[in-house]
Amino acid sequence: MPAFEHHVFVCHNSRPAGAPRVSCTADGKSDLHTCLQQLSKEAGLAGRVRINKSGCLDQCEHGPVVVVYPEAVWYGNVGPADAEAIVQEHLVGGRSSVSASPKSASTQNPARIGGRP
Ligand code: FES
Repeated sequence: MPAFEHHVFVCHNSRPAGAPRVSCTADGKSDLHTCLQQLSKEAGLAGRVRINKSGCLDQCEHGPVVVVYPEAVWYGNVGPADAEAIVQEHLVGGRSSVSASPKSASTQNPARIGGRP
């Protein structure tokens, strides 16, 4: 069985309007997963990194949320424009604290919201 160097989960959960909690996507669709897959492939990580869509990761108020294992590092407020920072700095560079992307379209830059030190 292949062992991945990193396993990335991207929350794609959506809730109906008026739900008591917010959700990471409005309609279960997001470019973030596709961006992460494409950028990791371009970085030569195909077969070494697995990027999966996930259901709710219970960090909804920080969404959109991404978690990277085995480090168990959580990123919040992640937009498609932040995907490059996660790929280059964390998946390629091994730094599990990603800096702001200058091209970030999100209102807040991806922020580490938890995980092992
Ligand atoms: S909806 Fe994404 S973490 Fe809950």
